[in-house]
Parts: sequence; C-alpha cells; structure tokens
Amino acid sequence: MPPGGADYLGPISATPMKMVTEMLAFAGPLSSSDVVYDLGCNDGRVLVEAARAHGCAGVGVEIDARAVAKARQMAKDAGVDALVKIVRGNAVKAAIRDATVVFVYLLPAGNRKIARKLMRELAPGAIVMTYVFKLPEAWWGPWLVASEAAASTRARAAGGVDASAYNKLFKYVVPETKPAWCREGEEEGEEGEEEARRGWAGRIRTRIKILVARLVPIRPRSRGERRFLRTFFSRAAAAGVVAAAAVAAIRPARR
Ligand SMILES: C[S@@+](CC[C@H](N)C(=O)[O-])C[C@H]1O[C@@H](n2cnc3c(N)ncnc32)[C@H](O)[C@@H]1O
Repeated sequence: MPPGGADYLGPISATPMKMVTEMLAFAGPLSSSDVVYDLGCNDGRVLVEAARAHGCAGVGVEIDARAVAKARQMAKDAGVDALVKIVRGNAVKAAIRDATVVFVYLLPAGNRKIARKLMRELAPGAIVMTYVFKLPEAWWGPWLVASEAAASTRARAAGGVDASAYNKLFKYVVPETKPAWCREGEEEGEEGEEEARRGWAGRIRTRIKILVARLVPIRPRSRGERRFLRTFFSRAAAAGVVAAAAVAAIRPARR
C-alpha cells in the first residue's frame, strides 16, 4: 500500500525545470504577495523557484518522508527556507485557504480526489495550475482560462523522450460564486469525522443536520455563513430539546 493509502494522489515524479519556469510565468505575474501551494510537492522545486525568482511564499504538502527531507534541503540550499514551508502530510486534508496559487501535478484520479476541495476552500480569484492532466472537465471545465503546450523538454536527437504531447499546463481561476458540486458529499465527509468523535448522540445530530441541509435549500457561500447557519441550527435543535423536556416535565404535574 503506498503512503496515504486511498488518498494516494500520484507517484513521485518531478516537473522538468523548464516547465516549472514556464508554469510560473503562465500563472503570473507572481509577486511577493502571492502564496503558492504545491499539493504533492516532491522535492519542492516549484516552490523553491517561485520563492527564488518571484519572492513568493510557498507551502508544500508531501506525504513521502524522503521527498520532504529533500525539499527542505533544496529550499535551504537555495537560501529560501524562510519563505518555503514543507509540511509532511496528506494533501487531501491540508488547509489551503490562504493560497493564491495552487500547483498540482498528480494522476487524473488524484486530481479528481482534490477537485472539490480546491473549489470549496480556495478564495475567488485564486489560480490553480495543473501539469499534464486537467482537473475533471465536468466540474472545472468552465473555469479553465488557458492551456499551453510547451515544446519538448528533451530532444529526440539527444536520445531523450519527446514528451511534448504531455507537456501541457492548464490554468484555472476560482469563480466568485462557487458551483454546488463542490459541496456535494461535504456534509457526510466532514460530519463523518465529527461523528466518530461524538458517538451515537453525535451520529443522530449529524443525521438531523444533513436532513435539514437537504430539506432547506440554503447554500452558504462563505465560512462565516456556514458557521452562522451551523450555530443557528444547533441552537434551534437544542432549544427544541429543552422545550420538549419542559413540556414533558410540566405535563404530569397538571394531572
Ligand atoms: C507527480 S509528483 C509531483 C511533484 C511536484 N509537484 C512537481 O511538480 O515536481 C506527485 C507527488 O505527490 C505525492 N503524493 C501522493 N499522494 C499524496 C498525498 N495524499 N498527500 C501529499 N502528497 C502526496 C507523491 O509522493 C509525489 O511526490
């Protein structure tokens, strides 16, 4: 079983340096106010180059311990370790909300696995760059703003493999209004973890919340709105329980 198990997003492989340079230019113009993430960063080359050439802060999330050590060393050697943070962990569970640019070079199944998360968590206007494989067309298709095929990074004449057919970069921009698909399965997913912590009482509460969410067509657009609605429904449910208990307590006294 590879590291990450079911959350394994793609094997270790590195974007050719020529493509890293092109990708950063294509994503930009980038500046020191950008925060670049690489989900599955391997040796961290994208982030090191973004920091070195454009002064960007970078966060790499990588599941493989050896790749993490290599990435940290690369950042140190390039003198950008103050700007580039490499986190050992599962990109599926990483907090990515402060990213202005996210770079993803994963297998199609990996792209699919994180497609909803990217749309749900990133701020409107954030850029997602993928290399070789697109994000799922049915979901992210409308927000693909540009794609670019670069010339081969290895010439046939020099005995290398002509990889030009695969040397494609895709640039997406997160929209102002998030599509509904990015929230599908969210209740079950997030609440599922919560359930595990709370036991049977939590499970009942969760089911009620999911039912309410399905019956009431309210689609919160921001974290603040979600928090507000969550608090509102929890308090309403608690008030209902207190009222029912009060009625039950008063009734026998009347008889
Ligand atoms: C194709 S490489 C991409 C490397 C790098 N982004 C680049 O462009 O040079 C995919 C990387 O994702 C990592 N990976 C796979 N599943 C992961 C997960 N769930 N969380 C974090 N990293 C993961 C692999 O260890 C591998 O280093």
